[in-house]
Amino acid sequence: MKKTAIFLTLLLTALGSQANDIAVGRAKADTACALCHGAKGIASMPGAPNLAGQQHIYLVEQLKLYRSGARPNAVMNVIAKTLTDAEIEGLSQWYASIAVKVE
Ligand code: HEC
Repeated sequence: MKKTAIFLTLLLTALGSQANDIAVGRAKADTACALCHGAKGIASMPGAPNLAGQQHIYLVEQLKLYRSGARPNAVMNVIAKTLTDAEIEGLSQWYASIAVKVE
């Protein structure tokens, strides 16, 4: 009984923090990324890639590469430089959580 309670608490905490990351990431994306990558991750600017439905691990890696300059791009290097690890995590969870349909 006690073990079940502990398990449930851990599970709910994990689910809660993930939902929280997505909400924080979405709010950040609305102000910092949507202009080019679209409100729901489908790019609104020619030359900017779609991010909706992209793999979480790939997004984290690319943002860290832009931040360090290892992946050079004039626009994204400037933007990523200001992002914290937590922001990168939230942004990546948000874009990865957007469902895309492929026909
Ligand atoms: C001024 C327009 C602009 C803004 C604002 C912008 N981006 Fe970008 N982003 C681009 C362009 C252009 C590229 C393509 C760069 C390249 O060729 O490497 C790109 C590439 C990316 C990629 C790589 C995608 C891939 O398929 O490899 C990621 C991830 C990304 N942006 C995330 C973000 C996030 C997160 C934000 C907000 C914090 C943001 N961008 C804000 C224009 C923008």
